[in-house]
Amino acid sequence: MLAHLLHLNGIDSVVVENRSRDYVIDRVRAGVLEQGTVDLLHAMGVAARLRQEGLRHDGVYISFLGQRHHINFAELTGGKAITVYGQNEVVKDLIEARVATSGPLYFEAEHVSVAALDSSSPVIRFHHHDTEHELQCDFIAGCDGFHGVCRPSIPDGVLTVYERVYPFGWLGILAEAAPSCEELVYTLHERGFALFSMRSPTVTRLYLQVPPDEPIERWSDEAIWQEMLRRMTTGDGWKPNVGRIIQKGVTPMRSFVAAPMRHGRLFLAGDAAHIVPPTGAKGLNLAASDVLVLARAFKAFYERGRTAWLDEYSDVCLRRVWKAQRFSWWMTSTLHRAPDESAFDHQRQIADLDYLTSSRAAMTSLAEQYVGLPAEVSFESAGLPA
Ligand code: DHB
Repeated sequence: MLAHLLHLNGIDSVVVENRSRDYVIDRVRAGVLEQGTVDLLHAMGVAARLRQEGLRHDGVYISFLGQRHHINFAELTGGKAITVYGQNEVVKDLIEARVATSGPLYFEAEHVSVAALDSSSPVIRFHHHDTEHELQCDFIAGCDGFHGVCRPSIPDGVLTVYERVYPFGWLGILAEAAPSCEELVYTLHERGFALFSMRSPTVTRLYLQVPPDEPIERWSDEAIWQEMLRRMTTGDGWKPNVGRIIQKGVTPMRSFVAAPMRHGRLFLAGDAAHIVPPTGAKGLNLAASDVLVLARAFKAFYERGRTAWLDEYSDVCLRRVWKAQRFSWWMTSTLHRAPDESAFDHQRQIADLDYLTSSRAAMTSLAEQYVGLPAEVSFESAGLPA
């Protein structure tokens, strides 16, 4: 996304990816795009397929004590919505846009390292198909995820790390089943969290709270369906449609922020700098807003020699990051059962959800955070149409 934003501003970049093209396109991740992310992809001119295949949702259901409660985003936020479209589909569209510009894009790069970060010419080294590459850069954008090489290349003592690890994970499946509800359903059941989502009119996406690091082999397809139905079926008889499971996996849950999101001429963006637990699906959306802020700063630097926006990059991003951290933590703690919780904690969760679904003020608060808080910078400042 950053490479394409830079391209639109006439700034060259090289993209270095250690996975294969097929891996990044096939790897199933979350699938909820905030209104602002959708608008950004439109403004970048990479939303043709998103427009065709994205599923616009005007609201969401919260389910507890066997009842679904609707929260209407469109009504509470003046017409805003979310769009269900797989993160890997966004990646696929962006790769196609990159390839169409003929900008350099290396897949399966090996032994990637970064150096000379606080000089005016930081370096990236990597092997690609047995050739050694060394790039002398103006800047390095560390968009290489939580396990990437960029953040660990920052010297000790520079970053402050804020972290919370949750005592549960998500078992997620894709199933060949028509979604039985037109919107997402977040469930708190006495046996734990469950989430009903979808990818298309024929594919349902479901999640289940499980212990962290739960081996997926422990769950037969039959056991998965039994537990999904047990947690999600509501008093009115609603339940997900059952179908063949085509993909399954377990995701750990963590909140993490490394600050500042910069060291010298290395700028961290997305999961390289921060991780949210998946509840609320903010990860990709935060990465998108980071690179919008970074594109604005690079544009001002190349066009006007202005460095103030580079200097402000981390602070500007972290304001939005921390609000999304707070939201994701809240969604997670309100909808999951912790192994060490007391009976009081559980009653408080129920009261939290009862209040949420019966107060217009509380629903509005959820709605405006779920559809996405406003971007910290304008599209125009990053060289895009409004
Ligand atoms: C999905 C993932 C989420 O984390 C979430 O909160 C909602 C939906 C999804 O994959 O569809």
